[in-house]
Amino acid sequence: MTPQELVVCALDAQKHAYAPYSGFTVGAALLTKAGKVYLGCNIENKSFSPTVCAERVALFKAVSEGETDFDAIAVVGRDKDGIYKHFCTPCGVCRQALSEFCAPEFRVIFGDDTGDCEIHTLGELLPFSFEL
Ligand code: THU
Repeated sequence: MTPQELVVCALDAQKHAYAPYSGFTVGAALLTKAGKVYLGCNIENKSFSPTVCAERVALFKAVSEGETDFDAIAVVGRDKDGIYKHFCTPCGVCRQALSEFCAPEFRVIFGDDTGDCEIHTLGELLPFSFEL
């Protein structure tokens, strides 16, 4: 699967985002090394702190189904006016959550609705991640 194809999966996932409070909808598509894709969207809550990011929804769906071998994640985000962020990057908590299962070489793909994307590694995005 190409990075652009994974971004299209993230755009699909974003359609299910539940973001009535921020209006910012996020989609994530997590690719396993075996080629399976797990989708996630942000799910907000009126009490705010239960809100979960799209990336962690995708990650926890995958891990809860026994998957722990990951290749890449694509992320897209759009504001309340429907304007795509160029580009939407994972928050610090999601970077740390990904680092639990993903090597520094794991690819993090920032996308939008233009077909354009930018590829970074988790090691670049989270140097000195917390380790026990
Ligand atoms: N959000 C994500 O889904 N992923 C991130 O990496 C950062 C933020 C969501 C959380 C919240 O629903 C909305 O974006 C605005 O912060």
